[in-house]
Amino acid sequence: MANIIGAIASSHTPTIGFAMDANKQDDAVWAPIFAAFEPVKAWLAAKKPDVLLMIYNDHVTSFFFDHYSAFALGIGDQYRVADEGGGARDLPPVGGHAGLSRHIGESLMADEFDMSFFQDKPLDHGCFSPLSIMWPHQKSDGQGEGSWPGTIVPLQCGVLQFPVPSARRCFKLGQGLRRAIESYPEDLDVAIVATGGLSHQVHGERCGFNNTSWDQQFLDLFEKDPEVLLNMTQADFARLGGWESAEIIMWMVMRGAMPAKINCLHREYYLPSMTGIAVAVYESEVAVDPALNAGAHELHRRHMAHQTQGAGKLEGTYPFTLQRSVDGYRINKYLHQLIDPAFRARFLADPDATYEEAGLPQIERDMIARRDWQAMIRYGVIFFLLEKLGAVVGVSNLHIYAAMRGESLEEFQRTRNTKAMYSVAGSASTDAASWDKAGAPPAR
Ligand code: FE2
Repeated sequence: MANIIGAIASSHTPTIGFAMDANKQDDAVWAPIFAAFEPVKAWLAAKKPDVLLMIYNDHVTSFFFDHYSAFALGIGDQYRVADEGGGARDLPPVGGHAGLSRHIGESLMADEFDMSFFQDKPLDHGCFSPLSIMWPHQKSDGQGEGSWPGTIVPLQCGVLQFPVPSARRCFKLGQGLRRAIESYPEDLDVAIVATGGLSHQVHGERCGFNNTSWDQQFLDLFEKDPEVLLNMTQADFARLGGWESAEIIMWMVMRGAMPAKINCLHREYYLPSMTGIAVAVYESEVAVDPALNAGAHELHRRHMAHQTQGAGKLEGTYPFTLQRSVDGYRINKYLHQLIDPAFRARFLADPDATYEEAGLPQIERDMIARRDWQAMIRYGVIFFLLEKLGAVVGVSNLHIYAAMRGESLEEFQRTRNTKAMYSVAGSASTDAASWDKAGAPPAR
């Protein structure tokens, strides 16, 4: 069983990453930051968690306002460092524990948290600033990739565009997170890392606002009486700690995942410039034998499976699950580019060049080149990308349906009430939709 061995709370200000990259260990201004993180490093080195669950927020780097969500769980097996404007920091990509991510995602959805899921998005300073100073890593030697001591599961919280979740909602998500982690059947040691805050405001005339006495009170309440914080509003947090400090609701996710009584093993606070940098390590006050709740975890796994129970036995049906999404990501991403007219033109003119550019393996190139609709569905391509490919190459939806069933168009049409033909091809595809005019092209 997976086990939560403890938790870390940390500000995620980019100054931490800057101090590291600029080797400011001996600089009097920056030295307190390194000193504050030493006990965290030592705790991680002693406890050797397999996975860090990183609760962080992106700063309009990888998550933009064209689609903004409250809780986005990373489900991939690797995360790169984001370029936030001046080039990415020289850090190796960190591995993601995709199996645990999937389990957490399924568990939280079963518990009625409507999560969003991401992969193939680089993570910004919200995650990598604290991660890089607390978890010693090997940079690439130029021959191969660098490495980290373990893997992560990132949970990105959308705290920039209001409305955002309340502190209490974050706490409840944390309680769900604990159920999810502890019911994961594989033996794994997991540490929860909450990032963000403390007091700061970086915009407007109030920019530069800090409140160190509130920060200390917050740290006390967080440990001993979080209920007080859960009753507070975003406006309360903003009034006391500055507008951007309201991101500390992310700490409530971690608090909800920890037992009611926790011991604080380390706590440090330093305000060098704009943001109150707080660092803390917590463990459960009572050591609980994970086996005590084995029955409850088994029941929870059954609850998680309830909605799709039996779906796997449906003939000719391929549910598009998180696993399928991760496994088929490369070819689905490739085909998704067909919504771009410039890519469509390049694909039609020189498909091999586009396969090469996307790094598709031969099996994927062959399926696309053969227009092997049935093989692509079995492989993990979602149907709605097949119909886009059909639109581009002049094959109707009906041809694709027939091919997936292993039938000719005529055989399939006999199963319909009419012989209606259609595709998602739009105004630019009048030539491609020749099947609607005369002599249908072959389905493959
Ligand atoms: Fe932040």
